[in-house]
This record gives sequence, C-alpha cells and structure tokens, in this order.
Amino acid sequence: MAELATITDSLLVRAIADTAADIDRLFDRVLAVPGDPRARLYQAMRHAAIGGGKRLRPLLVCAAAQLFNVDRQRALRVGLAVEAIHVYSLIHDDLPCMDDDDLRRGRPTVHRAFDEAVAILAGDSLHALAFEILADPFVRVELIAELGRASGPAGMAGGQMMDLEAESMTFDLPTITRLQQLKTGALIAYAVEAGAMLGHLPGEGRARLKGYARDIGLAFQIVDDLLDVEGNSATVGKAVGKDAERGKATFVSLLGVERAKAQVELLVDQAIGHLASYGTEADLLRAIARYVMERDR
Ligand code: IPE
Ligand code: IPE
Ligand code: MG
Ligand code: MG
Ligand code: MG
Repeated sequence: MAELATITDSLLVRAIADTAADIDRLFDRVLAVPGDPRARLYQAMRHAAIGGGKRLRPLLVCAAAQLFNVDRQRALRVGLAVEAIHVYSLIHDDLPCMDDDDLRRGRPTVHRAFDEAVAILAGDSLHALAFEILADPFVRVELIAELGRASGPAGMAGGQMMDLEAESMTFDLPTITRLQQLKTGALIAYAVEAGAMLGHLPGEGRARLKGYARDIGLAFQIVDDLLDVEGNSATVGKAVGKDAERGKATFVSLLGVERAKAQVELLVDQAIGHLASYGTEADLLRAIARYVMERDR
C-alpha cells in the first residue's frame, strides 16, 4: 500500500513540475514584451502569470485529456487558456476594491508592483488572451462557449459577486455551497470537462467526470478557506486571516474547522468514487483529488 502511494505521489510530483514548466514556457512565448509604450502592461501580465501558482487547472485539463489519449500539446493550449482566466481573476480579486491584498504567490500583487490601472488592464488582457488562445480553427466551439460560461456571471464572476455580498449578508449552507461552486468550482469543473470535450466523449459518458470535478472544486475552496484560518502566510504565498477579518461567511465560519475538514474528506472520497470505472489511467486524477485535500499552499 505504502509503495503504491509513493508511486502515485511521484506521478503527481512529476506531473505538477512538467505542467508548471510547460505553462511558464507558453506564457513566456505569448507575452513577449513589445518595445513600445505597452511594455508595462505586458510586464504586469508576466509578473502575474509566469513563475508561480500550483497550475492546478492546466494539470486537470492534461490529466483528464490523458484518459482519452488526447495530444498533450492540444490539452496544454486549453490549460493555458484556463490558467489565463484564473490569473486574471486573481489580479482583480486582489484589487483594493475587492480583497485588497498585497501578497500573491509570494510576490507583491500586481497593483502593488505596478499600479491599479495597470492591474485592471493586465486582468482584462489575460481574460481576452484566454479566448484568443482557445479560438484556433481546430478547437470546438463548445470549448470556447463553456469557458465563457465558467468565467462569466453564471460562473466565476457571479461567484465573486456573491462573495462580496457574503461580507454583509448571512448566507446559509446551500447558498455558500452555490457561491463556492460558482467562484471556484466552475473553472475547475471546466478544466476537467475540457479533457472530455477534447476527447470527444459523448454527453452521457461525462457524468462521472462531472461528479469528480464538482466534488474536488468544492473541496478545493473549502481548503482555501481552511488555509486562510490555519495556514502559514509564507507557505501559502498570500495573506491569511483575511476572511475572518472581513467577516466573510465561508464553509469554515459556518461549520467550524473540524466539520469543514470532515466535509473535505467526504468530498474527496466521493470524487475518487466517481472514477471507479477507470483503471490506472485515472491514477493522476485520483492523486490530484488527494492533493487538493492535503495541500498546504
Ligand atoms: C486561489 O487559487 C484562488 C481560488 C480560486 C481559491 P489557487 O489556490 O489555485 O492559486 P494558485 O494558482 O496556486 O496561485
Ligand atoms: C478568490 O477567492 C476566487 C477567485 C479569484 C475567483 P479568494 O479571495 O478566497 O482567493 P484568495 O484566498 O485571495 O486566493
Ligand atoms: Mg476573494
Ligand atoms: Mg482573495
Ligand atoms: Mg481565500
């Protein structure tokens, strides 16, 4: 058993390192700094996008696509697009008018390292870039439409709106669950489902992967909220204690630390359960589910 765990751990460690290197290389290529007055915009995008982060979403695209023998370079392109949306969401999330944070991925946030106007433009530009990256003639319209849905008012942006309201309104558990599913779950779910779309998996075959994606997406945000309470700022690379300071309703504020942890365990077990019909080809997805629970950053 221990030996098996070590094998899947090394599979995960290698996959994380490979994805990080590939995403850095691709961002470096698409974000070459022009020798004109737009230079600071590109420098700000590079500051946010290159050399940091867990790259969980591209990792999920690649791990899911691998189930259907999709070419890795095609999967990486979609992963790059999702990561561009994610980085844009982080830049805007950190702005003074939102969470007002100074530290992200162990570095000053973009509005701190540059200024607010540049941070807004860098976020806007990464948002647009995501769709430019995706929209090549060989990509299916579904991949583009679903990324729009997962990032807009029916997804991440809508969840961020609810999250702002959570500072002044009292939300019950179903509402918090929906908030988390939109704010964080939608983009994570997209990453997994993109693998199935790339693999031309028909609709009915996607239900199990959808279940996996929904469960790890929710678990991921509960762990983010737990790290805000119990994490170490130097390790997580961002400020901690912010949610309580702002009086923000989260799973942890509602359930308490222990019940929130139990919920994460339940969700991760359930996520792995959805993969029961797959063999060793889904080991990476299983390892990612455990990583979501055990991560300290
Ligand atoms: C942080 O996301 C914001 C959330 C959606 C919870 P990550 O924890 O994936 O951040 P990085 O990409 O590793 O920096
Ligand atoms: C942010 O949630 C989620 C998105 C960026 C969509 P948080 O505000 O909890 O993320 P962190 O803790 O700042 O990374
Ligand atoms: Mg926030
Ligand atoms: Mg934040
Ligand atoms: Mg947080």
